[in-house]
Amino acid sequence: MRTQVGIVGAGPAGLLLSHLLHLRGIDSVVLEARSREYVEQRVRAGVLEQGTVDVLNESGVGERMRAEGLPHHGIELRYGGAGHRIPFERLVPGRAITVYGQQEVVKDLIARRLADGGKILFDVPDVAPHSLQADPYLTFGGERLDCDVIAGCDGFHGVCRPSIPDGVLSIFQRDYPFAWLGILARVPPSAEELIYSRSDRGFALHSMRSPEISRFYLQVPPDASLDDWPDERIWAELRARLETVPGFALTEGPIISRDLSAMRSFVAEPMRYGRLYLAGDAAHIVPPTGAKGLNLAVADVRVLTEALAHLYATGSTDLLDAYSATCLKRVWRAQHFSWWMTTLLHTFDTDDAYGRRLQTSHLDYVTSSEAAATTLAENYVGLPLDSGAPRD
Ligand code: FAD
Ligand code: PHB
Repeated sequence: MRTQVGIVGAGPAGLLLSHLLHLRGIDSVVLEARSREYVEQRVRAGVLEQGTVDVLNESGVGERMRAEGLPHHGIELRYGGAGHRIPFERLVPGRAITVYGQQEVVKDLIARRLADGGKILFDVPDVAPHSLQADPYLTFGGERLDCDVIAGCDGFHGVCRPSIPDGVLSIFQRDYPFAWLGILARVPPSAEELIYSRSDRGFALHSMRSPEISRFYLQVPPDASLDDWPDERIWAELRARLETVPGFALTEGPIISRDLSAMRSFVAEPMRYGRLYLAGDAAHIVPPTGAKGLNLAVADVRVLTEALAHLYATGSTDLLDAYSATCLKRVWRAQHFSWWMTTLLHTFDTDDAYGRRLQTSHLDYVTSSEAAATTLAENYVGLPLDSGAPRD
């Protein structure tokens, strides 16, 4: 088999890349280790930046998102017995976020690729990249896919990044001393907007998927097991961490799914080796407190699409050669924002009274200074896609 771009992974990065390349007349094949059902059901991200929404709309896969997605014009930071709204409409006029589940984005992209005759192979065993410096190819289950370039969109635990020889990549990593327990509950949201709550018992997040479905997260110990968290304990802890302002009551209901996520920051530089280009979680991870991971994956594949379109139109590798540096500017901005949101809102066992007081003081600053709140808002809704980063 031969194609122009061999894509490993049918997550948001791989599927969107395949779709955007198709719109530019470039052929690709997507190889995915898991089943279609599995990737369509995996519950993860929920917050889409304005730039991500724009890419999905402009590329013709935004119809269901426009109908079912929930636009949000602010978030609440809750701590010290009070809620503080960060109003996007005033601080970053014209920009907002949309709450729409990652698995819905994945379903929309798969449906569109298949309708356009795209090739996505699911349940593909033993994918391995080869000959990355010239004439690259992928092997899987006894077959071979030759291609001009390989896009490693196979997430943090994929095979592409580890196929790069030792010593080539610089790795930057930080692991946090806690995890997130996430649930979906068949219950209307208890507030109209997302609530990021810092409490002495740990962080909690109120989010949603639809007028009928709520999404919640709890900071838990890094070695927590789902067995430790029966429904009643989850609701009791959510109440203790979220019902901290007068008049707020959590609406409870049946829990329909639950998951645990490690919290880590990670960047591999450069995001390229020979003809292998890494995109999305394969190259970088952020803790979800900033809601940036999926949005970074979208930004990467947009840059990669432009670079590949330029290659096929002109024969020039200029944009491909700049791919890693272009993406990394945005990646590092999001790294800082995600680390900052995480340290601002979680409790750390190692923190002393001084550390806790410093955290509250910084929250006071962010919620009372127009400049600080604007910084939070412009990072949260996402910096413009094309700039890659703010002014140098
Ligand atoms: P993935 O989604 O990991 O997709 C990689 C694909 O490659 C998978 O389908 C996998 O099965 C496949 N694969 C792996 N290995 C192989 C192999 N060997 N061969 C073939 N295929 C392979 N981001 C946001 O922007 N906003 C949010 O609100 C947000 N909330 C989050 C909440 C949680 C709890 C978590 C865990 C993450 C959140 N994120 C959020 C991050 C977001 O989910 C990820 O950044 C996003 O999934 C990255 O997409 P990707 O396509 O790069 O990787
Ligand atoms: C979600 O709704 O899944 C969500 C929202 C905000 C975050 C992370 C996840 O920061």
